[in-house]
Amino acid sequence: MSETKFVNNDFSDVMFNRHSVRAFDPTVKIDRAEIETMLGEAAKAPSACNLQSWHFVVIDTPEAKEKFKKSVMKFNYPQVDSASAIVFIAGDTQSHLVYRDVWQAVYKAGNITKERLDQILGTFLPLYENATPEFLKFDATMDCSIVGSQLLLVARAHGYDANAFSGIDFEHMIPTLGLDPKRYVPIMGVAIGKAAQEPLHTTRYDVKTQTEFLN
Ligand SMILES: Cc1cc2nc3c(=O)[nH]c(=O)nc-3n(C[C@H](O)[C@H](O)[C@H](O)COP(=O)(O)O)c2cc1C
Repeated sequence: MSETKFVNNDFSDVMFNRHSVRAFDPTVKIDRAEIETMLGEAAKAPSACNLQSWHFVVIDTPEAKEKFKKSVMKFNYPQVDSASAIVFIAGDTQSHLVYRDVWQAVYKAGNITKERLDQILGTFLPLYENATPEFLKFDATMDCSIVGSQLLLVARAHGYDANAFSGIDFEHMIPTLGLDPKRYVPIMGVAIGKAAQEPLHTTRYDVKTQTEFLN
C-alpha cells in the first residue's frame, strides 16, 4: 500500500480529466524524492511475468534537458523545455537475467511454496532464455507502455499534468541517455509539471466501432 496522501484521490477526475498538457509552469520544481515516489507508484503496474522490464531516466535540470533534446523531435521541445521533469522510459530486454532472484525473494518472503517457485522458474524462464531479440523487445515495450500509462495517472494524483511523447530519434536516444543500446530500447518520454495551458480536449471513436465479440 502506498503511503502517499494523494493531492487528487478522485479516480474519475484523475482518469477522465486527464489530457495531454504540453505547456507547463517552468518555475515549478518537483523534488527528486517526489519523483521517486511517483515512479514507485507507477511501477506497481503489472508486467509480463512480473519482470518489470522498464528503466527510468529522469531529466530535471537545464543541462540534462539540453543533452536530452538532441534526440527529441523539435515539435516536442515546448513540453521538454517547460516541464518540471521528464521521465524517459526505456525497455530492458535483459530483465529476465534477475528473474530467478525476483521469484526467490517471493519464496523467501514465504509467499509461495518451493513447488510453486520451481514451477514458475521451470515454465517461464526458458521462454525468456530462448527468446528472440524481437520477442524481448516486444515484451519490454508492453511493460513500458503500461507503466507509462500508470505514470500519467499517478502524476495527476500528485496534482500535476503530463504528456507522453514518442516523437524522438529512436536510433540515438539510448546512447544520448548513456544507456547500453544492446540492452535497452527507447519507448517514450513523459513530461510532468504544473499545467500552464488549458489542454486540447480530444475526442474518441465510439468504442463500438472498435469492438467485436467473438462468437
Ligand atoms: C505512445 C504515445 C506517443 C505520443 N507521442 C506524442 C508526441 O510525440 N508529441 C505529443 O505532443 N504528444 C504525443 N502523444 C500524446 C497524444 O497526442 C495524445 O495522447 C492524444 O492526442 C490524445 O490526447 P489526450 O492525451 O489529451 O487524451 C503521444 C501519446 C502516446 C500514448
